[in-house]
Amino acid sequence: MPKSERRKQVEAMVLYPLDWLEERSGLVGGVKYFLFRKVPGDTNWMQTLGSATLTAFIVQALTGVILAMYYKPTPHDAYSSIQNITDHVTMGWLVRGMHKWGASVFIILMFLHMGRVFLFGAYKYPRELNWIIGVLILVMGMMEGFTGYLLPWDQTAYWATVVGINLNGTAPFLGPWLAQFLRGGQEIGGDTLTRFYSLHMLVIPGAIIALITLHLYLVIRLGVTSPPWSKEAAGEEPAEEEPVSLRPGLTRPVPRGAGASAMQPEPGGRD
Ligand code: HEM
Repeated sequence: MPKSERRKQVEAMVLYPLDWLEERSGLVGGVKYFLFRKVPGDTNWMQTLGSATLTAFIVQALTGVILAMYYKPTPHDAYSSIQNITDHVTMGWLVRGMHKWGASVFIILMFLHMGRVFLFGAYKYPRELNWIIGVLILVMGMMEGFTGYLLPWDQTAYWATVVGINLNGTAPFLGPWLAQFLRGGQEIGGDTLTRFYSLHMLVIPGAIIALITLHLYLVIRLGVTSPPWSKEAAGEEPAEEEPVSLRPGLTRPVPRGAGASAMQPEPGGRD
């Protein structure tokens, strides 16, 4: 059916900014590549655990930003500011509850995702580096939990941190230095609280975001592993490749105004 003038106008209006961005950055092509990239035909629900973990992390980041608007990291104000969030700030109880319970959800999902990767053998060549990056994310995730636990500055928070820091202090060679660094002095006090706050809301999330970016880059670069029972699994004869029929111009930037003929794939070319 021929397109109406109105529809053509609307399409041009939508495509103009996208083409503008694509010509200058290649970002639109990048997003299209990400969305339409090939994954094994028999991927499994368990392979959604990585995305579930990512969702949990994003929830933590968003609720954390809101909490940081009301939280006061001083021994005098910390506990009362948390009470204020829970009892007086609109929906504060919900945001705090989501952040508190979400922390456990995030850690549990990370372990489930790691278990899936292990059971599928997805840590093997060529994905060893992504496993190592995953381990770093796991360590950072647990440090995030440890530093966050002190912030309410109540009895549980204080004594749990005493135990945690003393445990770290028993590590060989680095232990005493680590304990001193975490305390920010000889005693657990105001300096420890501000230190934990800075680690919890700046340093560790920054490191986790950088590591997740690297992790996902490698997932896209290396592709997702097939389940071990799959015909496409490593060691099996490769399945016959279907001819790829991408819409022309889908992943390749095309100058604005060039007709469809300029976008035709080269004869014999795959894309
Ligand atoms: C914030 C934490 C994490 C996030 C957001 C995350 C995200 C993801 C996503 C979205 C995928 C692709 C889909 C999937 O397989 O589920 C993936 C794959 C992978 N992840 Fe993670 N991950 C995290 C932590 C970890 C940890 C702790 C490990 C292991 C120590 C790990 C190792 C891997 C490996 C080796 C792959 C490739 C699997 C394959 O190709 O099938 N990840 N991750």
